[in-house]
Amino acid sequence: MRWQVVADYSSMSAYGATCIYQAIVAAANAGTRFNLGLATGNTMIELYRVLADKLNRQQVSLENVHTYNLDEYVDDTGSAVPENHPLSYRKYMQDHLFSRFDAMLGFREDHIHFPDPCDPARFDRELSAAGGLNLQLLGIGFNGHIAFNEPESADVVSREIYAARPSRVIPLTPLTLATNARLTAGGNLDRMPRHAVTMGMASILGAREIMLLACFAEQQAPLQRMQTGSPTPELPASYLLTHANATIVYTADTIQLN
Ligand code: GLP
Repeated sequence: MRWQVVADYSSMSAYGATCIYQAIVAAANAGTRFNLGLATGNTMIELYRVLADKLNRQQVSLENVHTYNLDEYVDDTGSAVPENHPLSYRKYMQDHLFSRFDAMLGFREDHIHFPDPCDPARFDRELSAAGGLNLQLLGIGFNGHIAFNEPESADVVSREIYAARPSRVIPLTPLTLATNARLTAGGNLDRMPRHAVTMGMASILGAREIMLLACFAEQQAPLQRMQTGSPTPELPASYLLTHANATIVYTADTIQLN
């Protein structure tokens, strides 16, 4: 794993968009399928705008691109929240990326994949049958979670068992509920779904390339803990440390690491 420091949010967005753009172009030129793992959150908003602009400008074919989103909120009935729910990640993806693609690029609605809370194992099976992820984009929670893989006690779960966690429905931790309520639900905890479906650690870590982006001051602490440690269920992002092709891109204006 390597660390890549950039100046600020705008450079991070340009850097991330360029990496993804180049990987999509290479696959398009080779005529091969490209499985792209996508994340939501404030971190990714400008990256998606820049990426869509670049692809549209260069008229890059998206016919062979499949997207696999990390997660989605789950309502009290056990279903994914509907797309008209204000916190829906499907809606976020439509608004920030998918609806921006020029129709000429050939991006297909049926190439959009989200884990289904009613059958999360199917997501892992289908992803694996499709050859796994070529590139996974990640954000990082303030407690070090990736997707909604929340920290677990190393006294209770071994490093290996945590790394093999499948896609599944999980209850959100109080910290994640409070953070996401503050950042995305106007501070209103009552508007927060209590559960989410998440891509599991196994599918994430199976990606051939991983790029984690961090740009908020609150993300300094989990990144600092990673610098001195080794993979532990207490800090899910720390599993990137032993991945063969992972990069953590962070912004110098908000995050200071040694
Ligand atoms: C949520 C998502 C994570 C994401 C995190 C940070 O909790 N499940 O996948 O990394 O938010 O989001 P933001 O980019 O808004 O900081």
